[in-house]
Amino acid sequence: MKKQVAVLAGDGIGPEVMAATLKVAAQVAPDLTFEHGLIGGHAHDETGEHFPKSTQDLLDRSDAVLFGSVGGPSDAQHLPKWQGCEVNSILALRAHLNLNINMRPVYFDPSLADISPLKEAHYKRCTDFVILRELSGGCYFGEKKDYQKDQLRVSEDQAIYDEAQVESIARFAYQLAAKRSGSLTSVDKANVLATSALWRTVVDELASEYPEVTLTQQLVDNCAMQLLLKPEQYDVLVTDNLFGDILSDAASGLMGGLGLMPSASFNDQGFGLYEPAGGSAPDIAGQDRANPMAQMLSLALMLEHSFDDVQAAEKIRQAISATLASGHRTQDIAQGHWPVFTCSAFTEQVIDALDEEKRNQAMASIRSGY
Ligand code: IPM
Ligand code: MG
Repeated sequence: MKKQVAVLAGDGIGPEVMAATLKVAAQVAPDLTFEHGLIGGHAHDETGEHFPKSTQDLLDRSDAVLFGSVGGPSDAQHLPKWQGCEVNSILALRAHLNLNINMRPVYFDPSLADISPLKEAHYKRCTDFVILRELSGGCYFGEKKDYQKDQLRVSEDQAIYDEAQVESIARFAYQLAAKRSGSLTSVDKANVLATSALWRTVVDELASEYPEVTLTQQLVDNCAMQLLLKPEQYDVLVTDNLFGDILSDAASGLMGGLGLMPSASFNDQGFGLYEPAGGSAPDIAGQDRANPMAQMLSLALMLEHSFDDVQAAEKIRQAISATLASGHRTQDIAQGHWPVFTCSAFTEQVIDALDEEKRNQAMASIRSGY
């Protein structure tokens, strides 16, 4: 039976980077079937809902989800289609699928050394690490309240974690660390927050079951500083929902920007949703200027983790790397001194580079100085 992928392109730059990525998919994974569904503001326009029943039905008959982005411009948030859009679509989707593990790889492509804020001595030593973000709990999913007290407007976000939620991602993190370098850093704010104190206790209690893994526990404020000064210390970093959201954006900055970071989310049964870590960038939507890398790299994660096709995943990564190495950049990573390629022109280069022979020719011409 052909495997089916639910494609939820969504809003902003979502549809254009998704179209670019599906061109790549047609080359490397011709056996997959892709079926489109509605999500976000776009779905609201068509159905009056951000996450309509038709999309829920599509998910039920799919083997994985390739997600684009949702949300609208900050000056249009009052419109019904954008009100609560992220909460009603991507967060509802994560809850619907019980996605509790989010994996965000931080990889330094040598060709992008000039846009990474890191000095050479650092990025040479830290070619890659992984951020694991708990995705189902914390203040993202606790009760929210708005009310008046003593004539003041008050708002509350409840943050809850139970030990099973922490244990699930902690075990995933220990296992991943054991497969990699054996080093695990768990990040929390245990000196202040009750949820973090529980987090630290549970992660600590599991350590004896994974003697091959060395555990370091860091406070999140310290980790934010260490990410900038000494990122090479990290291999697998595990943290809660909110801290993971913030630290992964910071880490993508080390790579050269949010347009470069893919992500994979899993539930306990291993079902996966794959999406760029960045947002819908409405300011550049529809202009063929978006960077499709994070979406293409999310496809690579999907092929590797949902369909066990490491070869196809590597092919995409190498094609992107060769495209960058041959001097092709979208506007977000051009830094003013590289020629700027549109999303479609960049995509054509990636597709060309999927062909090994063409890729080798391109690399050879770079080595010989063009
Ligand atoms: C992310 C995004 C989402 C989040 C938004 C769009 C709700 O920032 O995936 O990191 O905060 O989880
Ligand atoms: Mg985020």
